[in-house]
Amino acid sequence: MDHFLYRDGALYAEDVAISDIAEAVGTPFYVYSTATLLRHFRLFDEALAGMEHLVCYAMKANSNQAVLKTLAQAGAGMDVVSGGEYRRARAAGVPGDRIVFSGVGKTREEIRTALEGGIRQFNVESEPEMVVLDAVAQELGRVAPITIRVNPDVDAKTHAKIATGKSENKFGIPIARAREVYALAAQMPGLQVIGIDVHIGSQLTDLAPFELAYQKVAELTEELRADGHQITRLDLGGGLGIPYERSNADPPLPSDYGALVKRTLGHLGCEIEIEPGRLIAGNAGLLISEVIYVKSGEGREFLILDGAMNDLIRPAMYDAYHDIIPVIEAAPGIEPQPIDIVGPVCESGDTFAKQRPMPPLHAGDLVAFRSAGAYGAVMASEYNSRPLVPEVLVKGDQFAVIRQRPTFDEMINRDTIPEWL
Ligand code: LLP
Repeated sequence: MDHFLYRDGALYAEDVAISDIAEAVGTPFYVYSTATLLRHFRLFDEALAGMEHLVCYAMKANSNQAVLKTLAQAGAGMDVVSGGEYRRARAAGVPGDRIVFSGVGKTREEIRTALEGGIRQFNVESEPEMVVLDAVAQELGRVAPITIRVNPDVDAKTHAKIATGKSENKFGIPIARAREVYALAAQMPGLQVIGIDVHIGSQLTDLAPFELAYQKVAELTEELRADGHQITRLDLGGGLGIPYERSNADPPLPSDYGALVKRTLGHLGCEIEIEPGRLIAGNAGLLISEVIYVKSGEGREFLILDGAMNDLIRPAMYDAYHDIIPVIEAAPGIEPQPIDIVGPVCESGDTFAKQRPMPPLHAGDLVAFRSAGAYGAVMASEYNSRPLVPEVLVKGDQFAVIRQRPTFDEMINRDTIPEWL
């Protein structure tokens, strides 16, 4: 559920008309709903009630400072994957002891930043990383709390580019080697082993792969405890999917997921961490764009928008489906007609949807891409020298620009000219 609804035929974000925001900031822009962000965070928090737990929002999904602050004030921890994300989380007021550090290639510099600034745990992804983490921790006279990310070799049944839990993926260490690697870690004076980490992929719309992976984690917990390790924390990653295509989707709910976690892992008495990104931010955001032209091709119509693949890359990169709806609802009884919805970037890949049934639209009309709050603005680029689009946060009847559109001068002046020119 989200808070983007039609009122008298006009699309609103909570109590603010989308067309009012468009008038104030221009198109394209992203708009996020505070109530939806908080609702999704709380659904996870409640789903794990009864177990000691922390919901660590995977901020790669949407790392705007205002989004982070909204969630942090509600009690969320953060899952970070770079020194930049660590700094963003701290700048938004998240204490170090609520930040977990994931990622396959943490540099010495990033490790140092987190150790000096304070960190809840590192999720270690390889033996070489473990050696470096141990060395940096010893240099600083600290002990780094760690989990080790195990790769359970489970098929997440999601798009190949966002599956991470098969043995051919680059993530984690093979679960079959876990006992050996934990034994090595236990001998390193700069490390304190506290738990196990697993993340099998993103946009999972079936709970079965989670169940398989968590059963394997439960078995491993018992084995590692028998080997003498103190396993008190299990980080279960993120990955729960959202209904991108509303007319045709029925994904599992956070409460179903919470029940699964209790069933598979509850008996171990561990503190549970989860790292949801998409399910918290995805349906809390829209990308709003204006129709520039309606063009008739050979046997095909094109809706040419002012938003493009550089603003929302998911359709081009993952063949992702996003619902696209008019900001002013079509009159009842109007038959939608199939049309190709494209952006103005000079690539055929700049196509959001092919032969999508849409009500008649004209130049100047606004459309909204649903489910664009996660992996939207954060993956945007300035390709074709198109400015990054602004982000707007709504709360009740208030809205605020939370990232400005850069001016062309700002964009150009980021480049510097060598003196020989
Ligand atoms: N934890 C780890 C270690 C991850 O690698 C990820 C996502 C998450 C948590 C959060 O997963 P979520 O709950 O959001 O599914 N750009 C792609 C998604 C990439 C996901 C990468 N890792 C997309 O637009 O679909």
